[in-house]
Amino acid sequence: KQDESIRPQRICDYIGQKDLKEVLAIAIAAAKSRNETLDHLLLYGPPGLGKTTMALILASEMGVTCKITTAPAIEKPRDIAGLLVNLKPGEILFIDEIHRLSKMAEEILYPAMEDCRLDITIGQGRSAKTRSIPLTPFTIVGATTRIGALTSPLRDRFGLIQRLRFYEVDELSLIVERTAKLLNTPINSDGAEEIARRSRGTPRIANRLLKRVRDYVEVKASGPITGEIAATALQLFNVDPMGLDWTDRHLLQMMIENFNGGPVGLETMAATTGEDAQTIEEVYEPYLMQIGFLQRTHRGRLATASAWKHLGYSPPEEQLSLF
Ligand code: ADE
Repeated sequence: KQDESIRPQRICDYIGQKDLKEVLAIAIAAAKSRNETLDHLLLYGPPGLGKTTMALILASEMGVTCKITTAPAIEKPRDIAGLLVNLKPGEILFIDEIHRLSKMAEEILYPAMEDCRLDITIGQGRSAKTRSIPLTPFTIVGATTRIGALTSPLRDRFGLIQRLRFYEVDELSLIVERTAKLLNTPINSDGAEEIARRSRGTPRIANRLLKRVRDYVEVKASGPITGEIAATALQLFNVDPMGLDWTDRHLLQMMIENFNGGPVGLETMAATTGEDAQTIEEVYEPYLMQIGFLQRTHRGRLATASAWKHLGYSPPEEQLSLF
C-alpha cells in the first residue's frame, strides 16, 4: 500500500485544519521545553479528515513512536493492560473509534491516564487482591466520529479535545496536487480542483478519487489530468459534481420520492435504503448537512430544496418557503 508514503510527516506539510495545527504546535513546543510528554488528546470529527495522520505527525514531532490500535480490537482487560505496560517512554498510543471502548477497558484506562498507573485485580471473589503497577509516562491520542457517545469520565481525562472540520476546495486542491506529485502523476490546477470539488471536504476521498482518475488517464487518455478528464472519469465512477455518490443520491431520492422530502426518521431511512443507520449518521449525513442538502429536525431528517433541485426534482411550494 502506498497510503503510508503519501501521509504528511510534519505539521508544516499538513494542509488545512489551521486552528488544530496552531493548538498542537503550542502543545508540542511547551511539552518539549518542559521535557514532558504531550497531554492526552481527543480528536473528533467525520471519518477521513486526518485524525490518524495527525497522531503520527505528533509522534514524529515529539521524536517518539506511535502505536495504533482500534477500540473494537481491545476485547479483554489484558489487551489494554498489555498495550499499556509495553509502552516506551513518551510513546503515543493511538486508539481509533475510542467511543467503542468497553467499560472494563475504560476503567483500566482512567488511572493509567490520570496517574500513570495500572490497577489490576488478581484472583476472584473474596480472595481477590488489587495491585498497582507504575507505568512509564505516555500519551493517549483518541479518535472518534461521535464525541457524544463518549462517557464523560473518559472525555474528562483528555487535556486537549479538538474537532477536525471538513476541508475547503482550495485546501483539497493542494492536497491533490501534493499527492499527485508523490505518485508521479501530472495534473494541472483545473484537474486538481475538479477532484477537490467532488471529494466531500475529505482528504481520504480526494486521494482515492485521484487514484481512480490516474487509472483512467493512463488507460483512456494521455498527458496530465485536466479538469475535463477528471470530470469525465469521475462521472464514470458515479461521483457527481457535488461529490455525491450512489448512496448519497439514493438516500435523498428515497426521502423525496417516498416521503415528499421528509421528515423521515433515521431508522426508517436505514430500513428503506438497506444502509446501516450508524453509517448513515456518521458517514453520509455530516457532509449532506454541511452542503445544506439535509437537515436534522426533532421530527426526523428533511431533504432541503437544494437537494431536490440538485437531483432534478422541483421542490414543493412549502419546501421553497421553508428554506
Ligand atoms: N493527506 C491527507 N490529508 C492531508 C492533509 N491534511 N495535508 C496534507 N496531505 C494530506
